[in-house]
Amino acid sequence: MSIIKLHDLNFTPFISEKELSEIVSSLVKKVSMDLDPNEIPIFIGILNGSFLFAADFIRKYTHNCEVSFVKLSSYQGTSSTDVVHELIGINEDITGRTIVILEDIIDTGTTLHKIYDSFKNKNIKQLKIATLFFKPDVYRKELPINYIGKNIEDKFIVGYGLDYNGLGRNLPAVYQLTTETN
Ligand code: IMP
Ligand code: MG
Repeated sequence: MSIIKLHDLNFTPFISEKELSEIVSSLVKKVSMDLDPNEIPIFIGILNGSFLFAADFIRKYTHNCEVSFVKLSSYQGTSSTDVVHELIGINEDITGRTIVILEDIIDTGTTLHKIYDSFKNKNIKQLKIATLFFKPDVYRKELPINYIGKNIEDKFIVGYGLDYNGLGRNLPAVYQLTTETN
């Protein structure tokens, strides 16, 4: 693997497909251990970034479950903004249900705050948060994150669902922003 270019920026290989698969498996294992096997959880992926993570997570989950998605957006270019837009909400009746949020990456926590807000008055049984990546150095909230796949440094990444201005989501591995060129 070598450096790739998306728009004006260069990215270097950071996390391989194999490691991604191992991270997802370990998250599934941790979440499964906490859930009551007699209860059917609803996994909710946060679009767009989490579509590949959610697909792989759900395929590795071996008990009955339901799946849904919400679409939120806070990012522009390579930095987070303070305004989160809910572009597609949840239609299902989720009263009394266990919800597990599947998020691609938690950065400042602004999006997570919006998630907690949207589920606050829905009378659900419990809300759990599972994120593939977490940037602890930039997280600004006190909100609990129940499951973290991997802590990463505060550098912009793309691939496996994550984009830079629309590009890079289809990359099967994860790449990190670099100033190096080939
Ligand atoms: P937050 O609201 O600042 O926590 O940002 C969360 C959202 O921004 C994530 O769900 C991603 O969609 C996006 N995001 C955060 N960091 C990155 C990154 O390094 N690469 C691509 N997207 C990111
Ligand atoms: Mg996201």
